[in-house]
Amino acid sequence: MSLNIEQLRKEFPILNQTVNGRQLVYFDNAATTHKPRSVVERLTDYYYKENSNIHRGAHYLSQKATEAYEDARKTVATLINAPHKHEIIFTRGTTEAINLVASSFGRKFIRPGDEIIISALEHHSNIVPWQITCEQQQAKLKVIPINEKGELILEEYKKLLNERTRMVAITHVSNSLGTVNPVKEMIEMAHQHDVPVLIDGAQAIPHMKVDVRELDCDFYCFSGHKMYGPMGVGVLFGKEEWLEKMPPYQGGGEMIKEVTFEKTTYNELPFKFEAGTPNVGDVLGMEAAIKFISYLRHENIATHEKELLSYALEKLKQFEKIRFVGTAGNRTSVISFLFEDIHPYDTGTILDKLGIAVRTGHHCAQPVMDFFSLPGTVRASLAVYNTKEEIDTLVEALGRVREMFA
Ligand code: ALA
Repeated sequence: MSLNIEQLRKEFPILNQTVNGRQLVYFDNAATTHKPRSVVERLTDYYYKENSNIHRGAHYLSQKATEAYEDARKTVATLINAPHKHEIIFTRGTTEAINLVASSFGRKFIRPGDEIIISALEHHSNIVPWQITCEQQQAKLKVIPINEKGELILEEYKKLLNERTRMVAITHVSNSLGTVNPVKEMIEMAHQHDVPVLIDGAQAIPHMKVDVRELDCDFYCFSGHKMYGPMGVGVLFGKEEWLEKMPPYQGGGEMIKEVTFEKTTYNELPFKFEAGTPNVGDVLGMEAAIKFISYLRHENIATHEKELLSYALEKLKQFEKIRFVGTAGNRTSVISFLFEDIHPYDTGTILDKLGIAVRTGHHCAQPVMDFFSLPGTVRASLAVYNTKEEIDTLVEALGRVREMFA
């Protein structure tokens, strides 16, 4: 099925506005996507009709909200083909999911002299939590290097895996370059050493079908807001065998079985990791986003985005002084670039004046920029509602940028 993008765009009222007197062109989807009506309506519906605290009350509304929240857990489990719904933990987002594992797994399983492997493509949220763990547990951080295309060098990864390795934490898709990492192969390699693997899936989930059983990853994390859902909500999938052994991340209501001043016993999965009143409304909004993606189907989204990516790359190549940063063979719809003679920030500012939203800077992935010896890039990241006409507008605007700096 090919998607009717014109029709689809009507589901995103925010797109239909002018910025600086021009029709908005939104190419900052890797930072956050917009939300379709069905997601916004699910939020208002919840607050108008169902709002209540969950797992606690015997009354009608509380039961209704509890049921909706637990159904959303099933929807998430189905999306990623998780074996059990209690392996789905709701978090504030990918960042919190990674911090949860780094902190809880770290305290239990990482000892002085142990090693944690990450990659040179990571977002800061999959670097800093592990640095904190390394500092606390006196462990060492090892980094898989990248090549000039922005791809991980697997031979180097192989050399890093050893009997001291306790965890591999890598991104599925690079937020700054769009590189899709061969995570299945990398997980297999880690498992040969009995090392668990955490995958940061924030930039993958909106673009491709993810099957945690097929990947056989031990942890998989993603955020609602990058997949057409609300901000402030996300998911940690963890294999039962690990989650059972890990200590709680935060203490509070809901995560306990019994509390006395002498001793507290903890609740079962997934509640052990969901202390305090959860973000019920946004979990339901995220569920609506999953239904939106499932309705469109991942393969149709990917086909449309791939077509846009090739079209954009072909058009952008016409600029003499353009430098593409990240040219991996397998990538999602992210284009990181700069004009060799113009600071990315200046390009971004002019594009904004022309109604085009892109991200400029290091994209929370400073080590990637350091590798390419750049202060940053201009990043155009595409989503399912983008069109070829919008790419034409970008190309025209970049022509204006060139004229201004001629
Ligand atoms: N992590 C988000 C990005 O890549 C904010 O822009």
